Amino acid sequence: KDLAIGLDLGGTKVLAAIISEKGKIISEFESKTDTNQDVSKVIIKTINQLLVKSKVDVNRLLGIGVASAGVIDSSKKEILYANNLNIENFPIGDILLKEFLLPVKLCNDANAAAIAEWVWGVGRGKNNLVYVTVSTGVGAGIIIDGNLLKGAKDSAGEFGHTTIIHNGKPCECGNIGCLEKYASGTAIKKLANDRLQSGEVSILSELLHSEKEVANNHIAFAAKEGDLFSIKLLNEIGNYLGIGVVNLIHLFNTEVVVFGGGVMNMSDYILPSVKKYIKEHGIKQMTEDVIIEKTKLGKSAGIMGASGLFFAGEREKTSLT
Ligand code: BGC
Ligand code: NA
Ligand code: ZN
Repeated sequence: KDLAIGLDLGGTKVLAAIISEKGKIISEFESKTDTNQDVSKVIIKTINQLLVKSKVDVNRLLGIGVASAGVIDSSKKEILYANNLNIENFPIGDILLKEFLLPVKLCNDANAAAIAEWVWGVGRGKNNLVYVTVSTGVGAGIIIDGNLLKGAKDSAGEFGHTTIIHNGKPCECGNIGCLEKYASGTAIKKLANDRLQSGEVSILSELLHSEKEVANNHIAFAAKEGDLFSIKLLNEIGNYLGIGVVNLIHLFNTEVVVFGGGVMNMSDYILPSVKKYIKEHGIKQMTEDVIIEKTKLGKSAGIMGASGLFFAGEREKTSLT
């Protein structure tokens, strides 16, 4: 057995791939997810389609590594809570074992991506790195002194649900003022549409009439065209992320902060304000040398980290040599 399935389960899509120990993606398949879907059906269908497409002999598979959005319990193999998937106490381990008769391992999506960035990506050779994903939600994976910070149930790093605004917007998680209410893909879309509806001027205003709603790829396009409305909005998102990242750097004394997730297709308009915020607000001696960079692995980070659950040890060693 020399291959594993890596599955990245997020609020907008599920990506499944067959991956070798060296991190080579043999085959991949993607489906859409949303909060109204039966999550088990989507996952099972996606893996089945992957297996058909890849034509890989099932006997070569060590198991299925799942990187999921949300708070997890890795020993029970349950997703305890994921607001962006609308699930609670979801026994993903049992479901996949029953369906595919393969061993299953579970971790958080951003934690998986952090490991992948450390082994193959921007964080190669660095022992103190934080990976921040800005997608449907916001999450983080924290690697300190050469170890992933795991916590009691492997759920350390719920960065998106840390408070950045006192008395701020309520979050589905029960808290208020959570970072992901201000700086996720979901938040960007909502903020843009609210502002356009209230009559703010943008090259997107016309689109709002024909499409009813603008999407994040429209905002990305408008920003590239020099639309001040979009550029300003994305700078604000960068400021909110900056608040969070200063906290992270002060807490963990990290050397690198790697940004990933779908929203990073607009990184040109977000990361400069993150850097500016850190410069203006961070403790100089702790923040001035910190490298802030965009992912090199892109959307593959999650699946690569997930498959890595079956090749544990080996990959961590490679990153250190
Ligand atoms: C979840 C995190 C996840 C992040 C990105 C957040 O809403 O709580 O667990 O890492 O979204 O998917
Ligand atoms: Na995390
Ligand atoms: Zn929250």
